Amino acid sequence: MNQNNSRSILRGQTLSFSANPFDGDPAGSIDHIEDGAVLIEDGCIIAAGAAADILTQGIGAPITNHGNGLIMAGFVDAHIHYPQVDIIGSHAEGLVEWLQEHTFPCETQFDDEKLAKNTAEFFLDQCFQNGVTSASVYCTVHPQSVTSFFEAASRRNACMAAGKVCMDRNAPANLSDSAQSAYDDTKALIEMWHGRGRNTYAITPRFALSSSQEQLEALGALWKEHPEVLMQTHLSETQDEIAQVRAAHPDHKSYYGIYEAFGLTGPGAIFGHCIHLSDNERKAISDSGAAIAHCPTSNAFMGSGHFDLAATRRAGPNTTIALASDIGAGTSFSPFVTMRAAYEAARVYGRILHPAEAFWMATCGGAKAMRLDDRVGNLAPGMDADLIVLDLKSTPLIARRVERARDIHEALFSQMIMADERAVKATYVAGEKAFEGVRAN
Ligand code: GUN
Ligand code: ZN
Repeated sequence: MNQNNSRSILRGQTLSFSANPFDGDPAGSIDHIEDGAVLIEDGCIIAAGAAADILTQGIGAPITNHGNGLIMAGFVDAHIHYPQVDIIGSHAEGLVEWLQEHTFPCETQFDDEKLAKNTAEFFLDQCFQNGVTSASVYCTVHPQSVTSFFEAASRRNACMAAGKVCMDRNAPANLSDSAQSAYDDTKALIEMWHGRGRNTYAITPRFALSSSQEQLEALGALWKEHPEVLMQTHLSETQDEIAQVRAAHPDHKSYYGIYEAFGLTGPGAIFGHCIHLSDNERKAISDSGAAIAHCPTSNAFMGSGHFDLAATRRAGPNTTIALASDIGAGTSFSPFVTMRAAYEAARVYGRILHPAEAFWMATCGGAKAMRLDDRVGNLAPGMDADLIVLDLKSTPLIARRVERARDIHEALFSQMIMADERAVKATYVAGEKAFEGVRAN
């Protein structure tokens, strides 16, 4: 994987998860070591723990001392559209209008390979600057947009999932495929990219409103042939969308039931949004083993509604909930901004999000949704060395707040409420430095 065969050590505070905070006491799920270190070899974590132990184990290995910097796994963004980076903050009445007025005209331009390549590079730069080392990415309907993305990700040795958006109705003609071409193109892209280097393919029907029954059926059949890949789509984002989906698929009892009917659910399925679900739908998602990508900045910006974390957990306790930016309906690449929005969304329903839950959803949760949790999203021996180093005092204001923090949970809580990309001091991808930040204060 990584060309560098030598060992190296990162020293600083370390943060990892020893349990899922949703399964028990959130505070007890965090493993924080004040003087910690991580031993890396060939792009993988050999050991993580107390500095005294790791330095002994890695004797002779060069040490990068990050001082008070907090070393943790890179963030995982479970739902993001790389072609939409240039339309962030574009106003429209609602989701369907936003798609027609801004998104489709923007995505149409991705028949231009040069634009796709340039945007993919810019997108990955933004990810690394924000400490995001893995993501589940929507491309456009053009197969070439996927190739451009995976080529850029491969050059950086980044662990990314991506897929060609499939849509054969309710979209402009020059952005539409067909049931057959969606199947053929997706199959060819899976064969080309899935499992090549660190790449993962995600079958990507945009949503039930833009796919015919025939297309959903073809993609369900393709997933059956290739169960090793992911499946990502949108589900239950706005009331208007739900009404239009009902009208477009009158034979189905629920929005989620449409995907279910075509075999488009189960482990490896990631449903974006899931705001207005019934408890029956929430339970069915949980029973299936699928995951939800919670996209709170997008939901707030679009006026879609607020994701009900409490109800989702109550009706579907086994569902993995991951955090996601949903750029370009989402407004920030920064997982800190997304975590704050998730905190605020949960509060709408009286649920108080613990920082351990927020950080878990932004790391382990995303990795689990992408079925990559044995490789990324946490610090543990054998996992890939996709790491970030955070400055817990990235601005003078946060520094004053953190001075008063009584424990690591309070320090993390203030990051989740106050921090942004300035908190990311460094990003390592497979053990190699991929970004180094400039101190803000
Ligand atoms: N539903 C269908 N397509 C999209 C998209 O590109 N963004 C969001 N937020 N919702 C969608
Ligand atoms: Zn989306």
